[in-house]
Amino acid sequence: MDQLRVGIIGTGRISDLHALEYLENPRARIAAVCDNNLDIAQERGRRWGVPENRIYTDYHDLLALPDIDLVDILLPHHLHYQATLDAAAAGKHISLQKPMALTVAQADDMITAANKAGVIFRVFENFIFYPPVQQAKALVDAGEIGELLTIRIKSNSGTSATAWEVPASAQAWRFDYAKNGGGPLVFDDGHHKFALAWHFMGMAEQVHAWIGQTEIAPGTGMFLDSPAIVSWKFANNRYGSLEVVNSPEMAINTIYYAQDDRVELTGTKGVIWITRGHGNMLDVPPVILYRDNQMRTFTNVPSDWKYSFMNATRHFIDSYFKGETPRLTGEQGREVLRFTLAAQESAHTGQTVRLS
Ligand SMILES: NC(=O)c1ccc[n+]([C@@H]2O[C@H](COP(=O)([O-])OP(=O)(O)OC[C@H]3O[C@@H](n4cnc5c(N)ncnc54)[C@H](O)[C@@H]3O)[C@@H](O)[C@H]2O)c1
Repeated sequence: MDQLRVGIIGTGRISDLHALEYLENPRARIAAVCDNNLDIAQERGRRWGVPENRIYTDYHDLLALPDIDLVDILLPHHLHYQATLDAAAAGKHISLQKPMALTVAQADDMITAANKAGVIFRVFENFIFYPPVQQAKALVDAGEIGELLTIRIKSNSGTSATAWEVPASAQAWRFDYAKNGGGPLVFDDGHHKFALAWHFMGMAEQVHAWIGQTEIAPGTGMFLDSPAIVSWKFANNRYGSLEVVNSPEMAINTIYYAQDDRVELTGTKGVIWITRGHGNMLDVPPVILYRDNQMRTFTNVPSDWKYSFMNATRHFIDSYFKGETPRLTGEQGREVLRFTLAAQESAHTGQTVRLS
């Protein structure tokens, strides 16, 4: 078999960015789609060239197809658990959007199910495949800023006239904390920020968080988990922090979500800035390095956020054909989930959570 036949389960907002690499890469093909909203399934399926009789509203029908090798699960969080167990039982390889589950116990079951079925199970975390992050990691690994001491992540959200459209249905489950698993910013989007901290610094030993609650408009009952401050203690006297803040009247320059991020990595010899994420708040190069009294800029790094998705998808395809294990493994996804959940626990109890 020289082509991976992919079934996409959940063809909502983010599926557009998942499809990009599958449509371009000759070693993969979108061979079936499923969404319980038939209109959405048909709109995406037709656009991606999926035959009409392979567009489903019940994912069990897609899982029953013998010629599907991999399922890309892009469902709301509370459905990740059962869909993964069902996909493993059907013998399909699995790429599952973050966060893998709502609890660590669920994550354990999912890893066990995939291992028992002998299928590949990877958690899709695109931020570590974002080219500016890859560039920064290469610089850190090359010792350009010496020994890494701290990581500081800042996440802004606001409003945007240029952002892509997010349907109300994609917001509804996100503001239902029982379905999302936490808040839209610190838990849901926050997974990416915890994954970045884990990627650069390793697993934290201790986590502390204050997570505020702001109703998006009076009487809506929809609460954003902002402003928030999370602090991390890593092994060997290293630290980090995440600040998340929503500014409802701040316009953000983006073609994706009305959001942007920055990462600052400080080492014994210098500092690296990753100056963007979803958007382009700062008109500066995507990666900047300071050391030895001098600033070096990395201007040719692709910084459209879509490349994080394309690279993450290509990574799975390449790994599959090389017989290698793609990232995040289920176990790595579980670690990032545990890290992310620690902030939720700390915010609720007011206590520092010890992870090791
Ligand atoms: N990596 C990122 O940067 C990023 C960005 C956005 C979303 N996500 C993740 O992608 C996933 C989906 O998010 P989204 O924004 O596309 O949400 P969405 O609500 O737009 O899409 C989810 C889709 O699943 C469908 N669905 C719901 N129940 C179903 C069922 N039982 N069977 C089949 N289809 C069903 C819905 O109709 C919807 O179209 C989530 O895990 C989210 O965290 C990741």
